[in-house]
Amino acid sequence: MTAVMIGELAQIPMGEGRTFSVGGRRIAVFRAYNDEVFATQAECPHLNGPLADGLTGSGTVVCPLHERAYDLRTGLGLNGECTRLAVFAVSVRDGDEIWLESTDPRTPAERAEP
Ligand code: FES
Repeated sequence: MTAVMIGELAQIPMGEGRTFSVGGRRIAVFRAYNDEVFATQAECPHLNGPLADGLTGSGTVVCPLHERAYDLRTGLGLNGECTRLAVFAVSVRDGDEIWLESTDPRTPAERAEP
């Protein structure tokens, strides 16, 4: 998939997330308080909680259903379980356009990049 614009930054208040449908796939996009943007699978790997409705900190999200936390950069679960979110490369262009670079999840090496 080539990069696709999925929305505008103004659709996501700082510290919150929103779910977008991209090519039949649901993607959660989060906007941190420093305007950094992250994209992950939309449903929690535990029991499909809506991650975009969770609490978003600086680089983390806490699922609203059972409060499992995930690192938004790596997708790693932060509660000790062996769960991991699929994370996707996302960028903001022209100041407000949210672009999903690919619907292929990032590789572990790519996840390690800032
Ligand atoms: S569904 Fe997310 S923690 Fe249970």
